[in-house]
Amino acid sequence: ASTLGAAAQQSGRYYGAAITVGKMNDATYMGIVDREFDSIVAENEMKMDATEPNQNQFNFTNGDRIVNYALGKGKKVRGHTLAWHGQQPGWMQNMSGQALRNAMLNHVTRVATHYRGKIHSWDVVNEAFADDGRGSRRDSNLQRTGNDWIEAAFRAARAADPAAKLCYNDYNTDGVNAKSTAVYNMVRDFRSRGVPIDCVGFQSHLGTTVPGDYQANLRRFSDLGVDVQITELDIQQGSNQATAYRQVTQACLAVPRCTGITVWGVRDNDSWRTGTNPLLFDSAGNKKAAYTAVLDALNAA
Ligand code: G3I
Repeated sequence: ASTLGAAAQQSGRYYGAAITVGKMNDATYMGIVDREFDSIVAENEMKMDATEPNQNQFNFTNGDRIVNYALGKGKKVRGHTLAWHGQQPGWMQNMSGQALRNAMLNHVTRVATHYRGKIHSWDVVNEAFADDGRGSRRDSNLQRTGNDWIEAAFRAARAADPAAKLCYNDYNTDGVNAKSTAVYNMVRDFRSRGVPIDCVGFQSHLGTTVPGDYQANLRRFSDLGVDVQITELDIQQGSNQATAYRQVTQACLAVPRCTGITVWGVRDNDSWRTGTNPLLFDSAGNKKAAYTAVLDALNAA
């Protein structure tokens, strides 16, 4: 196959990208998105601050533009994200206790209900673990409502959209380390107690190299009975960027329950990682060596 999406579909997977409403009138950008990707996620437009700017007043205008574009083109949609310490609307940032818990659950319910039936996978909870090397929960207003806030969010999401795959999503969990092991233990506990979780997202914002145990880490999560997805891939440009992209692609292909890969942007100048040129297309929209490495790996599967 000659595009990323079509090549991924040969093994039943998707290959997606994060896009933003502000660039949907850029013809070069949308030409690449139309052609290459069969799954779409909103880079910012479905987050808490975007969708509930005032408490209980929801704004789906920009999220709908992305979802309707994608579905109209026959592409899947990932939902990002229902509950997160980041990009909370101002009214939520200083809330606490039961009022915050209720507001968070109302947000999960209302947003997942609005998009019910349209989302193939939701990042229900994003980045709830700390980078302290001990696998602690991240301190946040949501965490301070009680350690069970994550499972409460998953139960609310399942009730609102029973067909969507419900994912936990995080960064620095790409190899085997204290943080990924803490997530692993949470997922194992959720599965044993019947908390509805279907997948784990590995953001994979990588430096110039891929952790040597990247594939083994994906595999140990899939052995828990959940899908795994690579959700926000970008790899800093270095001498071996194409090799690193090939390794990530091959790792997913080697794990049957790795169902898809999403890159976090389209061209290098679209990336949040300014100056690191971490994506598959250069700033003029040309395919990079990393693109060819990914396409070839997908076609070899
Ligand atoms: O929308 C406002 C705009 O009104 C304002 O004029 C402008 C001035 O700064 O800011 C705009 O908001 C920016 C927003 O992106 C939309 O462009 C924020 O400042 C900026 O902080 C925000 O950055 C996003 C970041 O998440 C914030 O957390 C990035 O685009 C987005 O790529 C990034 O994505 C995250 C994932 O959601 C979770 N995992 C990590 C990943 C990278 O940080």
